[in-house]
Amino acid sequence: MTDVQARPAFDLTDPPTEPQATQTDPQADALRHEREALRTRVAERMLPKARYLSADMHRLEMQRLWPKVWQWACLEEDLGKLGAFRTYEIGDQSVLITRGAEGKLRAFYNVCQHRGNRLRTGAGVTREIACIYHHWTWNLDGTLKSIPDRDQFDPMDDACLALRQVRIDTWNGFVFICLDPEAPELADYLAPLTEKLAPYHFEQQTCTRSVTMPIAANWKTVVDGFVEVYHLQGIHPQLLRFLDDVNTTYEVWGRHSAMYMPMGIPSPRLKAPDDDVTLRELSAKGSGYHGKVLRSSRYFREVDGKAELTGGVTVRQALIEAGRAEAEELGRDYSGLTDAQVADDHHYFFFPNVIMNIDAGHFIASRIRPHATDPEQCYFDMHVFDWLSPEQKAARPRRQHVEVAPGTEVGRVPDQDFTALPTVQLGLHSNGFENVRLSDQECRVLAFHTSLDEYLFPA
Ligand code: FES
Ligand SMILES: [Fe+2]
Repeated sequence: MTDVQARPAFDLTDPPTEPQATQTDPQADALRHEREALRTRVAERMLPKARYLSADMHRLEMQRLWPKVWQWACLEEDLGKLGAFRTYEIGDQSVLITRGAEGKLRAFYNVCQHRGNRLRTGAGVTREIACIYHHWTWNLDGTLKSIPDRDQFDPMDDACLALRQVRIDTWNGFVFICLDPEAPELADYLAPLTEKLAPYHFEQQTCTRSVTMPIAANWKTVVDGFVEVYHLQGIHPQLLRFLDDVNTTYEVWGRHSAMYMPMGIPSPRLKAPDDDVTLRELSAKGSGYHGKVLRSSRYFREVDGKAELTGGVTVRQALIEAGRAEAEELGRDYSGLTDAQVADDHHYFFFPNVIMNIDAGHFIASRIRPHATDPEQCYFDMHVFDWLSPEQKAARPRRQHVEVAPGTEVGRVPDQDFTALPTVQLGLHSNGFENVRLSDQECRVLAFHTSLDEYLFPA
């Protein structure tokens, strides 16, 4: 993946020396104050704007956050064949993921043990990993295979020359890597999300579309913008006609969190909520997954182009009925899902940078990746999943991941977000602004930043 043009780069390799305050070292004292100024002001629910702008903050994240957490690197299906490989970059670190003998996935630092050449870029299929520079070669399991003219080197132990392993694990087809040998196991790291999400049966669902878009904003500006519904009234007013933002509820489990958005109910913010308008807007073609489900309801009909529900059911009841009927017809197991999970949009945040919009039988998983060097750029990787029938699965063409330019239309709601977020980033520079201020509705933003600080500023 090509990085967008970097703004002035800075050295990511500076050691993370925490300055010690002494009366004789004003420089260290100044740096200590600068770092203090980056911290979340938890009691006041405020976030200093430097968190989104500062090179020092970006450097701290690269040194203290990303090497410590489990990161969603790719999908298992991206490594379908024996010999498949794929790289994943975070900051100045590159990880090489391979599928070797017996289908086993492994991950390594993507670097040659001779003179440090980066071994691979992108993705492909290979029988061995040969460095292009002097042809040192490794097997797909990372063991050393051959070294040209080896007798000209001092004696070397093969085991020491193996590719350096990186931890790898999978969850429902998602491949995660972790650079920290001491971090908890993936299942423990993700808890309790794995248990909460089990009834949706992600393992049955297929990624049908994926797209990457660069965004001119700090990665946290983007995360913040996707974990609250306070902005619906401003950025997505059309959603208020069928989504109850005011009665959306939130759950925070330490670093991870969720919000549950009732669908088929108009926002109490509307001056004159109207069930007919809710039905018309939610069932309109192009209104997304819930619209498709609603139109399939046995209670739904169109008379002279006007949407109606028969049997005296509400929009929400029709959504539940249609969702369960569709599951029955297509052999999907919704038995573990509550009516709210069938009808509503449940949104999960996997710390530090994965968000999932989850409906029954359909979900969108997105990852927000920081730019390697520029705190004011990031990438949004959006993956759409559908629960396909075996016939649909067999007939579907192979998914092609698409990289698009900023401004490319990918969907009405995300387009509205992607237009707004760079404007937020620009505004953060203003001399007339100091701190982000958070409300109850933005509790997930505060939890995210508080968890981030536990990595950046350990006690
Ligand atoms: S740098 Fe890789 S073989 Fe020399
Ligand atoms: Fe949004």
